[in-house]
Amino acid sequence: MDGFTTRAIRAATRAPRVDQRPTSVPIYQTATFSSADAEELGAVTTGATAGYVYGRLGNPTVDALAAAAAELHRAEAGFAAASGMAAIHLAVGSLVGAGDRIVATRYLYGTTRALFTAVLGRFGVETAFVDPADHAAVEAALAAAPTRVLYLETISNPTIAVADLPALGALGHRHGAAVIVDNTFASPALCRPLEHGADLVVESATKYLSGHSDVLAGVVVGSSALVEAVRALHVETGGTLAPLSAFLVLRGIPTLALRMERHAATAARLAAFLETTPGVARVLYPMLPSHPDHAVAARLLGSGGGMLAVELAGGAAAARAFVDALRIPERTASLGSIHTIVVHPPSTTHRQLSAAELAEAGIAPGLLRVSVGLEDAEDLLADVAQALEAAYAAGLEAAPAAG
Ligand SMILES: Cc1ncc(COP(=O)(O)O)c(C=O)c1O
Repeated sequence: MDGFTTRAIRAATRAPRVDQRPTSVPIYQTATFSSADAEELGAVTTGATAGYVYGRLGNPTVDALAAAAAELHRAEAGFAAASGMAAIHLAVGSLVGAGDRIVATRYLYGTTRALFTAVLGRFGVETAFVDPADHAAVEAALAAAPTRVLYLETISNPTIAVADLPALGALGHRHGAAVIVDNTFASPALCRPLEHGADLVVESATKYLSGHSDVLAGVVVGSSALVEAVRALHVETGGTLAPLSAFLVLRGIPTLALRMERHAATAARLAAFLETTPGVARVLYPMLPSHPDHAVAARLLGSGGGMLAVELAGGAAAARAFVDALRIPERTASLGSIHTIVVHPPSTTHRQLSAAELAEAGIAPGLLRVSVGLEDAEDLLADVAQALEAAYAAGLEAAPAAG
């Protein structure tokens, strides 16, 4: 007769057999999977037979998310990782080694830039930053030395520059570079960069895919061969996504298109309102005709999405006073959520950048990044209007309405 603890372990860990298919993906909250015999265990561990053995090598809930991301992007394969940065690290790390070179957009998420310079730089990878709107400069950078990766963002963080993916992708390929695109700001509801020539697409699933600010996750999608290299690097570096986190992203995906419609409708109204408001120097929203990349956006994006940037004429002081006077938005540093989130990039998301790097990235001292949430548009517009008034009533000089 087994002892009490032996019986307790057996009794509490016997997974029930279920013959009917659940209508949502179960959370396989386990680190290990048992095989029927030693031969099966060996075959599953080496990958000779499909199956599961250990959570870092694979988990059904995490695999379901990877497959869903691939399907949304019409990719051959997908991989899900512990965060957007883990996904970016895996995508880039699977392609570059010491002595290799990356050409990257200069309009880049601050931590991605830091990954390229401060981390990959220490491992002998060099990165050249270019203006993605200046195709001659991109071509010159690609031609200057053999380049392994051309790295772009569909809609840039935080300046909302929209990359001409087909043209840039063709340039990258002509010079032998693999093209990686961060599609976080757009989401697959607005843009699927593989359809425009990208080789790998990365997204922080922390943002629009999950949509509720309650989970960190990242995905990579692309060809089976490239994603297999990503999976192999993950086995050896271990930024593994938790099954509960994968479930939460899967929980968000069915409403992605609906959420994006609402985000975009409110963002378009807010952008139009801000553009005619005194004290606002510049509004950057892809579907405003004044946006420098409006024609590219109209061609590549299904809508303008939920992200916009606004530059206050009163500079950093006005930006801070405005943020403090807002009643509805969350004062935090993420995006793509039910909540509207307003951030001052120089002091938050792009804090790693020097003053010169901020200027090169087009980030003015008074720039604010707005991730428009799902709140009622009237409430948000009224709140933004009162916060602008409050910011300028605090003694800051209002500038004429932007043209
Ligand atoms: C464009 C972009 N890519 C990647 C990331 C990184 O994602 P995560 O925070 O999930 O690591 C972020 C985070 O804000 C982002 O804005």
